[in-house]
Amino acid sequence: MVFKNEWERIYRNNLQLSRWPWSSLVSLVNRHCDIREGMKVLELGCGAGANIPFFVSLKSDYHAIEVSQTTVASLKSEYRDNASVDVKQGDFTDDISIFGPNFDLIFDRGALTLNSTEGIERVLKQVYKTLKPGGIYIGVDWLSTSHSARKQDKAERIGDNTYIFSTGYFKDIGQVHFFAENDLRELFAEYEFIYLVEKLNDIKIPIPQQYNLWDFVVRKHAE
Ligand SMILES: C[S@@+](CC[C@H](N)C(=O)[O-])C[C@H]1O[C@@H](n2cnc3c(N)ncnc32)[C@H](O)[C@@H]1O
Repeated sequence: MVFKNEWERIYRNNLQLSRWPWSSLVSLVNRHCDIREGMKVLELGCGAGANIPFFVSLKSDYHAIEVSQTTVASLKSEYRDNASVDVKQGDFTDDISIFGPNFDLIFDRGALTLNSTEGIERVLKQVYKTLKPGGIYIGVDWLSTSHSARKQDKAERIGDNTYIFSTGYFKDIGQVHFFAENDLRELFAEYEFIYLVEKLNDIKIPIPQQYNLWDFVVRKHAE
């Protein structure tokens, strides 16, 4: 379960409206995916749709699930004339089987990391079934346990590596989940890791902090 009201409030207040595709995602897709017209793609937690123009430019068959009604309504309207863009409103930890099987690529940027351990495990079980053999999962900007907010900022611990912050950058965004390398290796034990990087961002200005994040690419074994 995600704290739905937090993200609904964020988007209603016109915050976090990223409009340009995230560069790490663009690089990882270009480097590791077999890009072709009609590539079947599912984004978990598409937010304001920053990554959609990139997949439209690749002529992908793009699907997404996002919990915020506000952004989903606006994306449905923006892409109403594009049959290759399908955005559904919902909680991806509940059910993604509505999208059917055989996806070439499933990814999230900064979305699974906002969920509980149980929610993450639940959706990843479905992700495995939803990917085709040899299909790719890309995770971008999953929070690392070495992120300095865990030590510096005030938070209530609500589960394994899961917190609700009352100060700092993660205040007012609901629950956030941090991952150690071993957590990622366990969550994706059934896959082959083809890329795994902990981005150690030593931020000096405006707020000194270690904004450390994971990017990774895993491949489901071909049958
Ligand atoms: C940090 S934003 C990133 C948005 C987008 N992926 C991007 O790269 O711009 C995370 C998004 O994930 C969504 N989200 C988090 N958990 C979710 C869940 N369980 N089901 C559906 N959406 C979820 C939030 O509502 C939010 O829009």
